[in-house]
Amino acid sequence: MGRAERVVLAYSGGVDTTVCIPYLKNEFGVKEVITLAADLGQGEDLEPIRQKALKAGASESLVVDAKKALVERYAVPAIKANALYENRYPLSTALARPLIAKLLVEAADQCSADAVAHGCTGKGNDQVRFDVSIGALNPNLKVLAPAREWGMSREEAIAYGEQFGLTFAVKKSSPYSIDYNLLGRSIEAGPLENPWTEPLEEVFAMTKAIADTPDEPEYVEVGFTAGEPTCLNGQEMSAIQMLTELNAIAGNHGVGRIDMIENRLVGIKSREIYEAPALLLLIAAHRDLESLTLTADVTQYKRSIEETYSRLVYNGLWYSPLKSSLDAFIEHTQMFVSGTIRIKLHKGNAQIVGRQSENALYSEELATYGADDQFDHRAAEGFIYVWGLPTRVWSERLGDEA
Ligand code: ARG
Repeated sequence: MGRAERVVLAYSGGVDTTVCIPYLKNEFGVKEVITLAADLGQGEDLEPIRQKALKAGASESLVVDAKKALVERYAVPAIKANALYENRYPLSTALARPLIAKLLVEAADQCSADAVAHGCTGKGNDQVRFDVSIGALNPNLKVLAPAREWGMSREEAIAYGEQFGLTFAVKKSSPYSIDYNLLGRSIEAGPLENPWTEPLEEVFAMTKAIADTPDEPEYVEVGFTAGEPTCLNGQEMSAIQMLTELNAIAGNHGVGRIDMIENRLVGIKSREIYEAPALLLLIAAHRDLESLTLTADVTQYKRSIEETYSRLVYNGLWYSPLKSSLDAFIEHTQMFVSGTIRIKLHKGNAQIVGRQSENALYSEELATYGADDQFDHRAAEGFIYVWGLPTRVWSERLGDEA
């Protein structure tokens, strides 16, 4: 890997990315480190983080408000895709990575940097997502990943930083590794590494323990327009506002926790705790509305696409030809996915209890068992004769041998 003169570093303000600043300069021979911190709705004031980077030796410290982009360009398409990795994880961390990669590439272009850098280790999915996304957006840009090479423990990293005058708040360091944005939180490591160990209440921040949730259920109505969430309890709102409000409402009822063993791209199984109240709720509501408004064949075909889509996003292929082709298919299916879903939140459960749409393909006259029934029962006989013909022929000819 050739030398880089000027580097844009993805910066979180944590120990690892802070130590990356002197490390890049001293071990990698980088002349100028420009840091970029993204506001992804993690609820942190980024001004102290901006200052911290400068103190650690950054020549410039950029802060970008990326909440709108995260929600509109990454989360909304994922909701349309009902994207759940391994059927459970709504990709709250995975969706932010291609966005951060894009911000890095754009900043590198603006600052005439010849490389970008991140603080990911070599064991996770995030390094893959960054490197692959950056390569797709600008194949000529070098990507530096100091933490993948330095082999330092956390204590050693702190000691390394101290050599260069960095000080780290001596608060009792958390045993957990946490990633947080408007879409959700992921919690790993520490006692959670034993898959038999129940997570302590202290790991959760977006969702209440069942014991602390309201005794009365609460109903919410989510309105969608062409697959996009646009309305909450009769009030039009932006997708950002919707995620913010639904995180609070659903989290208050203890809805949105996941505890799973997950298959990382790098071959490791890991124990993951997630909280993603709004995103999970929106995907469940959206999927239900699709059942009402899409034909059987489109619904069923789309379900298989969704699995592939989720795997691509998880595996770092947000910017890839297959992913954009699937997006085109999904987008086309969303034209009539408009309507309202009614959800009952109570004691950790989110139950869909009602749905309506002007485009509903559901027909009460066809479905009813009552007197208004319009379905031609006798027509079923001929249909079943033809439908069952192949198995009848098979049974007559070969049934004895099977
Ligand atoms: N396992 C999740 C994923 O791959 C969460 C990763 C969390 N990342 C982190 N740097 N703490 O999307």
